[in-house]
Amino acid sequence: MRINRQMRIGVALPWVAFAGFTAAQTPVSDPVPVAGVAPLLTPKAPLAPRINGPRITGVRPGKPFLFRLPCTGERPLTFAAEGLPPGITLDSTTGILRGASTAAGSHKVTLGATNRHGTTRRELKIVVGDTLALTPPMGWNSWYIHYNRVTELHLREAADQMIKTGMADYGYQYVNIDDCWMKAKNEPPFRDATGDLLANDKFPDLKGMVDYIHSRGLRAGTYISPGPWTCAGYAGSWQHEARDARWFARMGFDFLKYDWCSYESVAGGKELAQLKKPYQLMWDELRKQDRDIVLNLCQYGMGEVWKWGAEVGNCWRTTGDLGLERGSKLPGFYQIGMSNAAHWEHARPGAWNDPDYLLIGWVGDAHGMGEGKPTTLTADEQYSYMSMWCLMASPLIFSGDMAKLDEFTLSVLCAPELIDIDQDPLGKQAAIIKQDARQLVLAKPLEDGALAVGLFNLTDQPQRLEIPLEALRLKPGAGVREAWRQRDLPAAADTLGAEIPAHGVAVFRLTPKARLALRG
Ligand code: GLA
Repeated sequence: MRINRQMRIGVALPWVAFAGFTAAQTPVSDPVPVAGVAPLLTPKAPLAPRINGPRITGVRPGKPFLFRLPCTGERPLTFAAEGLPPGITLDSTTGILRGASTAAGSHKVTLGATNRHGTTRRELKIVVGDTLALTPPMGWNSWYIHYNRVTELHLREAADQMIKTGMADYGYQYVNIDDCWMKAKNEPPFRDATGDLLANDKFPDLKGMVDYIHSRGLRAGTYISPGPWTCAGYAGSWQHEARDARWFARMGFDFLKYDWCSYESVAGGKELAQLKKPYQLMWDELRKQDRDIVLNLCQYGMGEVWKWGAEVGNCWRTTGDLGLERGSKLPGFYQIGMSNAAHWEHARPGAWNDPDYLLIGWVGDAHGMGEGKPTTLTADEQYSYMSMWCLMASPLIFSGDMAKLDEFTLSVLCAPELIDIDQDPLGKQAAIIKQDARQLVLAKPLEDGALAVGLFNLTDQPQRLEIPLEALRLKPGAGVREAWRQRDLPAAADTLGAEIPAHGVAVFRLTPKARLALRG
């Protein structure tokens, strides 16, 4: 495993206190981290099958459906599904669901997985309807590792790695190219005789690449700008929007990031109408296609995009580039995360605030489009990053090197109870309960009536953080589960508290007592 600079020995790790108990009675003992090794909070996946990832997914009537059932556990596994919408079938050995259904409505499907250690079942709602991205998209994007060096092979390799590393078993699904797959400004022609886009030499068989990604049960994403050029100076869609939408659909893409960039030069201003126009145009064109293409707006939050992004897209970047954000006291993701957190009221199924990618593992410095290097974030900062993104119901798009995923990075990306919080079908983004120089407290209501709460220590010293249940609008008494370590803790009487390492976090799933009693 890679060694990060944060490696600490014997720090106090989170525990929950409840009123009336002294600290001496409450700590839950933790394995002492070994010197030089990042503490892995995420328990190893059990050998018995466990279905992870989204519990709801949407597809438009009659459009191709592709979903690889995310399941951990020893292979071989045998999969089953009951209640599938007519037209959609399951491959019981690969767990890949495919087909198309015209049966509009919400279908309660019971998924099953069996191996020699046991059987598990979980419900997946397949909603044949109008809305895509019913939960935040999860996947990988090429930008922060391959920049203008990206090739078709990187994408094929990313798809292989998504399966080999197990990321796909947790719900990661989209394999997305970013900028630099088309012809650059100095490489005309940009389009063929019919006007269709031409990929550059590093993408000799774009269609074959997408087919390959699909053959693995994963979805493929692409990128372009509504302007004449992309941010990195490659051909854009300006005045070819309808043709490009058709071409993306013909290539088989499932996701499009539409990046404002040089549109600035043709927009004629930055009033709301001008900001919205290119996205409205592409949204309308994509919806005419014979396949579902999720639209990701990338215009850095202009014109308070969170207020109108849902009318013309499925998710919208709320800030500038995370990789260019220079932190001051805190690493850049805090700045971006806290700015994104403020827009919590605007997120809902099919419409998500996007604070940019998960930049951990091996990533290349965006200043200068560098080669990959191990992240300089501490382990606790990485836990905070993932926790903040999950509480904010953010798209979970990793943008580091898929070929160099180490055990620690995977344990952060593939934490099933954090992913459950992110992918919760209610689709609420966490509200900010408390925010000052010392701490941030986020709380996200979940579909089953529970509340996910994150206590973030923003200081560079360990400290105890506490929040009264009342401040979370909870009555005294709540069941407490620690999401990273996946363990139940003693119930909280009236205060939730934890000792939290520098720049660290504790995430809890609180089950209100009233609900516990009801379940009886
Ligand atoms: C912009 C976007 C980034 C990336 C680059 C590509 O900066 O915000 O996410 O797509 O363009 O050039």
